[in-house]
Amino acid sequence: MSDTSKTAHLTIGDSTYELPIYTPSTGPDVIDIRQLYSQAGVFTYDPGFTSTAACDSTITFIDGDKGELLHRGYPIDQLAEKSHYLEVCFLLLYGYLPKADELENFEKTITQHTMIHEQMHNFFRGFRRDAHPMATMVGVVGAMSAFYHDSTDINNPREREIASHRLIAKMPTIAAMAYKYSIGQPFVYPRNDLDYAANFLHMCFAVPAEEYQVDPILARAMDRIFTLHADHEQNASTSTVRLASSSGANPFACIAAGIACLWGPAHGGANQACLEMLKEIGTPDRIPEYIARAKDKNDPFRLMGFGHRVYKNFDPRATVMKQSADEVLDLLGVENNPVLATAKELEKAALADPYFAEKKLFPNVDFYSGIILEAMGFPTSMFTPVFALSRTVGWISQWKEQLADPQMKIGRPRQLYQGETMRDYVDIESR
Ligand code: CMC
Repeated sequence: MSDTSKTAHLTIGDSTYELPIYTPSTGPDVIDIRQLYSQAGVFTYDPGFTSTAACDSTITFIDGDKGELLHRGYPIDQLAEKSHYLEVCFLLLYGYLPKADELENFEKTITQHTMIHEQMHNFFRGFRRDAHPMATMVGVVGAMSAFYHDSTDINNPREREIASHRLIAKMPTIAAMAYKYSIGQPFVYPRNDLDYAANFLHMCFAVPAEEYQVDPILARAMDRIFTLHADHEQNASTSTVRLASSSGANPFACIAAGIACLWGPAHGGANQACLEMLKEIGTPDRIPEYIARAKDKNDPFRLMGFGHRVYKNFDPRATVMKQSADEVLDLLGVENNPVLATAKELEKAALADPYFAEKKLFPNVDFYSGIILEAMGFPTSMFTPVFALSRTVGWISQWKEQLADPQMKIGRPRQLYQGETMRDYVDIESR
């Protein structure tokens, strides 16, 4: 935390309190209010954490007004174009771009740990076939702590390292197995001769009865989806992982908590919600009706895949993802798919509508990732699991960073209590 001589003054009644201000390497200054309660006896109030920095971090930086996303300082568009997912994983975990031998070793480690404990197969079989793959993933990832006892000691740096590698390596296998189980097909074991993205596609779409060749354009698009979702600083699921970890919970439990939070439609579930919305709209001629609903204050309907808490100009991930979507749609020749035609028209109509311009609502990454995943043949229920497996490295990097932070404390927000004050218990016959 870089200290400065700047100070904020807060006056409450006759008393004035001095609050230190810290200047980050980039981004807005931060007022340190940690001593506020002990000095002034007041709390601050910020329910959606809209103005609260909850930690120090050196991993990811977002400038929402400029539409900028940096991982360890490197812009996401450069990483998406020149790098690939496992190199970005290394960068997020260790803070620098790896030399060739470091990358080779890292890729080898991840590749060689993609299989899961054979007994975990039984765990999958305990779920109903119609379970949502995210429900299965929350359960199976949480259950990893019952299978990998040698990587749950958070105070041991080597065990933390092993847990990190295991989670990155096994998450695609778990997501693919959740999918295969839901459609009643046999599990497909990972293949070490394929790269990370191609291996995932193989585990999802291969069947033992015939040869399956992974198309390199689709593998590249898959890798981009992983890369663009790898980390996003202190979003809801990452904050959930940090909060869970602050109590000393084991890494698998923390990541299961992150998956659970990601599932919601306002966060990672938006890609599924977006495709379901496109299917409900059905044909481009119904778009005006849905735009009108999104603008109606009395209707809770929102255009899924539009808007972002931080990006108020454009989502830089969406720009890259749109290019990928065009490439995949060209390759697969799906111009006549009504869902995808509706998506293209909706994008045009919303961008031309003053309501969306005034409120700075632009298509976000989930709008385009859903379109690509649909074109690749994934059912909508698999969209959020793909996001979860991509984001695992972000969660893990933030988890590692937090554990190494000497200032770490258990997360324990306060509240603005609006309930009853103390009153006496009333016996049941007198109520
Ligand atoms: N459709 C219609 N109106 C919207 C939308 C939308 N998608 N998003 C925001 N608004 C309006 C909202 O009604 C509000 O209007 P007013 O000021 O008149 O009350 C204004 O825009 C600000 O909205 P907000 O809810 O205060 O903004 P927020 O920063 O709390 O919410 C959001 C951000 C992403 C939850 C929201 O834009 C949303 O619900 N979008 C749809 C879901 C979605 O696509 N989520 C994925 C986000 S990207 C992936 C990720 O990082 O998880």
